[in-house]
Amino acid sequence: MRYRLLVLTAAVACVALGGCTGKNDKPGTAAEGNTIKIGHYASLSGKEATFGQQVDNGVKLAVDEINNGGGIGGKKIELITEDTQSQTQGAQNAVEKLIGKDEVSALIGEVASGRTMAAAPIAMREKTPMLTPASTREDVTKDENGNVAAYIFRICFIDPFQGTVMAKFAFESLNAKSVAVLKDNANPYSVGLAKAFVEKFKALGGTIVEEQAYEGGQNDFKAQLTAIKGKNPQAIFVPGYYTEVSLIATQARQLGITVPLLGGDGWDSPTLTQGEAKTALEGCYFSNHYSEQDTSAAVQDFIKRYKAKFNGEAPGAMSALGYDAMMIIAKIIKDSGKSDRETIRAGLAALKNYKGVTGNITIDEHHNATKPAVVLQIKDGKFAYHSTVNP
Ligand code: PHE
Repeated sequence: MRYRLLVLTAAVACVALGGCTGKNDKPGTAAEGNTIKIGHYASLSGKEATFGQQVDNGVKLAVDEINNGGGIGGKKIELITEDTQSQTQGAQNAVEKLIGKDEVSALIGEVASGRTMAAAPIAMREKTPMLTPASTREDVTKDENGNVAAYIFRICFIDPFQGTVMAKFAFESLNAKSVAVLKDNANPYSVGLAKAFVEKFKALGGTIVEEQAYEGGQNDFKAQLTAIKGKNPQAIFVPGYYTEVSLIATQARQLGITVPLLGGDGWDSPTLTQGEAKTALEGCYFSNHYSEQDTSAAVQDFIKRYKAKFNGEAPGAMSALGYDAMMIIAKIIKDSGKSDRETIRAGLAALKNYKGVTGNITIDEHHNATKPAVVLQIKDGKFAYHSTVNP
């Protein structure tokens, strides 16, 4: 709103002064600009800081490679990153600013489904394409009426699939027939993934012996874990984000719970297994978008280039997805010779068989990508490849 007012004020001033060249009067057309502006909004600080930082590094690596190669049609990509501080309001402010003030051609973000969904109506209102690298909740790409959101896209699988992967893994690979669930009620991703898991696990013939919930940001989970322990599950599904999962695992072991904990992509962080959580999570499993141990040249070359740029730091799945997201937008601009918002929107809707670091990406009519998931096992604090599950 603030920026709309600003633009309006500027427009009035233009008329009053009898001029202005009109170079920027069509946001996102960027035809006369010297750069192509792309906005990235990410949790660079706060509770999910490693998510935002890792994607941002992936996006930056892509931008560097594009610009060092001469840019696109002679123009450099100008990346503008805004910190959401791991907060919903922060995501909305960031997107208002990137669209209204910076006039970006397209947006990349967020990782967390809840924040992507909070910012999506702004992108819809302003007809600006938004590509989320990693938000997996089913309705991220839907509008408030449940229809496909015209400007919102993603390049990752969705939680009904991810939930199925882990339910089958628990039931078939671990042979667990009774499982408990501990979800984050303040996190739309966690709620959606828990639902998908429970439905599939029951459909397979398994029993959910206990369902407990917490609110992200809390740090004492003993009451929920005690209730779960009383039901003697063979595994516990914890579809949350890494900050809470580390604490939950540590407290579960303190209470004498020895069964494996299972989770989804929200576990993916280098800090998940820090401190006491390292032993607490040893042997546990989670699903993810990619494995560092994938021996394909695409993955291993990416890891090499990423490590070279970021002091030997290893990329997470989000880094690879961020890299792919930026490269896809660049390819659309290159192939079409245009960088306006409508062209990028149409290019995303039509994307087929893009060979990314995270696999083959085709965006379907629901604006989602259908891709395999990997199951990883925590071994000595590291994420070891266990298996791949195809859709
Ligand atoms: N899929 C999670 C969500 O939608 C975010 C996430 C993606 C976390 C990839 C880690 C890795 O909220």
